[in-house]
Amino acid sequence: MKKLVVLTGAGMSAESGLSTFRSSDGLWENHRVEDVATPEGWERDPEAVLDFYNMLRRKLITANPNEGHCGLATLEREYEVRIITQNVDNLHERAGSGHVLHLHGELMKSRSSGDENLIYDIPVNNPDIKIGDKCAKGYQLRPHIVWFGEAVPMIEKAIDWVAEADIFVVIGTSLNVYPAAGLLHYVRRGVPVYLIDPNEVHAPGNITRVIRKGATEGVKELTALLKQSHS
Ligand code: APR
Repeated sequence: MKKLVVLTGAGMSAESGLSTFRSSDGLWENHRVEDVATPEGWERDPEAVLDFYNMLRRKLITANPNEGHCGLATLEREYEVRIITQNVDNLHERAGSGHVLHLHGELMKSRSSGDENLIYDIPVNNPDIKIGDKCAKGYQLRPHIVWFGEAVPMIEKAIDWVAEADIFVVIGTSLNVYPAAGLLHYVRRGVPVYLIDPNEVHAPGNITRVIRKGATEGVKELTALLKQSHS
C-alpha cells in the first residue's frame, strides 16, 4: 500500500467546534501565549495554566470528530495512512485513525513536572488537573503539552514518516510554527503535496495541488482526486 502522510493543524478540528489559534477569534487573540503556553508562564502562575488547559479539555470532551477526521480514517482502506498532528485533541483517534503522532502533546494526558517519563491518562469524568494533584514521585502534575521553548521529542519520528511518504497532505495549519512547518522540506522529490485550507497559506515548500476548502469538503475532494490519479 502507498504511504499517505498527513500533517494537520487546528483547522482540522474547526468544524468540530474547537477554536484555532491565529484566526480573528482564535485562542491567541484571547489568551497571552507567554502566560499559558510557556515554561515561564507555568513557573509564574501554574493555576492560570491549569485553568486554560482544563477549559480546552472540557470543550474537547463535548466535541466530536468531523467528517474530515472520519474521511482520513476511511482512507486507511486504500493507503497506509500516518497522521502527524500539531493538535492536542484526540479527534483523529476517536474517528478511527490508527497511526497518529502528536507533535505538541495530548490534552487528555497529564505529566509529572519532575519526571517527564511519568505520563497519565486523564479520565473524561474527572477532566481537571488541579494544584496539589501529584505524580507517583510527589511532583505537581502538568498538562502533557509541548510549550513554546520546549523540545519537540516526536519531530525525529515525524521526519522519518514524511521522508517515507508516497503522498503528502497538509490540512488546517497556517504553517507558522516550527519545527512542524519545516516538515515540508523532507518530502521526497516527485512526491505530490496537497494542501487543504479555506484561506491562503504561505507554505515553505512546493504545493502540487491547493484545495481551497474546509477540512470536511477538502478531504472529500482529496479522496476523489486520489481515486483518479493513484488508482
Ligand atoms: N478547515 C480547514 N482549515 C481551516 C478551517 C477549516 N474549517 N478553518 C480554519 N482553517 C485553517 C486556517 O485558515 C489556518 O490556516 O486552519 C489554520 C489554523 O492555523 P493556526 O490557528 O495557526 O493553527 P496551527 O497552524 O495548528 O498552529 C500551529 O501553533 O500555537 C501553536 O501549538 C500551537 O499547534 C499549534 C501551532
